[in-house]
Amino acid sequence: MSDIAPQAVEDLLDAAFGSDRFERTAYRIRKGTDAIPVLSFALVDDGAPIGTIQCWPVAHRGASGTATPLVMVGPVAVRPDLQRGGHGRVLMAHMLAVAETEADGALMMIGDPEYYGRFFGFGADATGAWDLPGPYEKRRLLARATNGHAVPVGAGMIGPRL
Ligand SMILES: CC(C)(COP(=O)(O)OP(=O)(O)OC[C@H]1O[C@@H](n2cnc3c(N)ncnc32)[C@H](O)[C@@H]1OP(=O)(O)O)[C@@H](O)C(=O)NCCC(=O)NCCS
Repeated sequence: MSDIAPQAVEDLLDAAFGSDRFERTAYRIRKGTDAIPVLSFALVDDGAPIGTIQCWPVAHRGASGTATPLVMVGPVAVRPDLQRGGHGRVLMAHMLAVAETEADGALMMIGDPEYYGRFFGFGADATGAWDLPGPYEKRRLLARATNGHAVPVGAGMIGPRL
């Protein structure tokens, strides 16, 4: 990622999600945090990014004040004209392999269970009592254990780990 112009990645995200993407709940969850370098990277073709994945340090905060670290996955994006060609799976598979030794919390994301459940083991079973700082569909709030970190199942607000 380091040798790619950050603006090129931003342009790719605009193309995949639209330039109003900053209003999304996902952006509010991780507001003020920096991407985790070892879990954030791009697929590059001829010097230009064609796919990108970023992960962020967030936390689940229960009513008692207990904070459990989580790693938020996303955005995951592939250039629109190259979608459905396996690039998303390559990005996710590499991130998951690194997370198995590097992630300091379970993984969570807002995404389509038909994709992230089917291929990558994410599910919404454990997240039913969670809350987010903005609108979301419960079925799209997904989580997955990794690196020995279980998914916290209790009630709690998901927000930035600062
Ligand atoms: C979602 C995304 C990252 C997937 O990457 P991709 O390279 O297009 O997909 P892949 O080639 O890895 O996977 C293709 C398979 O997944 C399925 N698939 C892709 N996106 C899907 C989705 N949103 N829901 C359900 N299935 C999906 C395809 O039907 C295909 O299945 P098949 O092999 O049975 O035909 C990409 O399409 C994208 O950038 N979409 C727009 C941004 C977005 O919604 N990002 C996810 C939220 S963070």
